[in-house]
Amino acid sequence: MSTTNTALQYDPITNEPFIRVPHRHANLIVTPPRPSDYIPLIDIMNDPTVYSYLYAPSHPFLESDAIEWIQSSKQECDKVLSNYSKHELLNPEIPIDGSPVNTIREILADGTQKFVGEISLKRSRCLVHLHQPDIMKQKLQENNDRSLGDPDILHDVSPYLAPSHHGRGIASAVLRTLTACWYLPRMKIRNVEAGIF
Ligand SMILES: CC(C)(COP(=O)(O)OP(=O)(O)OC[C@H]1O[C@@H](n2cnc3c(N)ncnc32)[C@H](O)[C@@H]1OP(=O)(O)O)[C@@H](O)C(=O)NCCC(=O)NCCS
Repeated sequence: MSTTNTALQYDPITNEPFIRVPHRHANLIVTPPRPSDYIPLIDIMNDPTVYSYLYAPSHPFLESDAIEWIQSSKQECDKVLSNYSKHELLNPEIPIDGSPVNTIREILADGTQKFVGEISLKRSRCLVHLHQPDIMKQKLQENNDRSLGDPDILHDVSPYLAPSHHGRGIASAVLRTLTACWYLPRMKIRNVEAGIF
């Protein structure tokens, strides 16, 4: 029986890090954002089946919004990639504050890669306290002050996919993979906050 390597790997040609999703979703990889991702993002974020359920996007979602969104998403991964060496990122014993990958791509039959969406797990934005700004500020401060590995750090996860890819079990498969091979063993996460706001 063949098994999929779900550890962090590097593309031998581009040197871009990636994590592969196993089993029936093995045509999916998770990589850092690429500057050109803003192009498919415009249509995705203007679709009511996506933007209605997200906290951040403006509506209508313009090209400039998409460029800014991808830059900000890329900064999250770039921070990890610049704070840790390749050797450290590949060493399973070393805890890492963040994830070097957050962008889901489908590898098509001709080898090209299609932007499918993002899944980003990071320190909680404490959005459950959105309507109590003072408490939200205090909770954010407390959470951000905690050191890597502190089991009390709260995280939140915010996925979105292109509407063409909804309802196929992709978000579940990607979240399961990243949790098993990165969020738990490397980021040492213990708490993920979910809420209605
Ligand atoms: C939410 C989203 C990422 C789910 O991705 P997906 O690949 O379609 O989800 P899956 O197929 O893995 O389904 C996971 C579970 O969520 C449920 N689910 C998926 N979309 C749902 C929706 N819109 N409403 C209610 N439940 C939903 C599925 O039934 C499934 O439940 P099950 O495991 O009990 O069968 C995707 O629908 C999306 O991009 N939505 C718009 C943005 C959004 O809502 N993001 C979440 C904000 S926190």
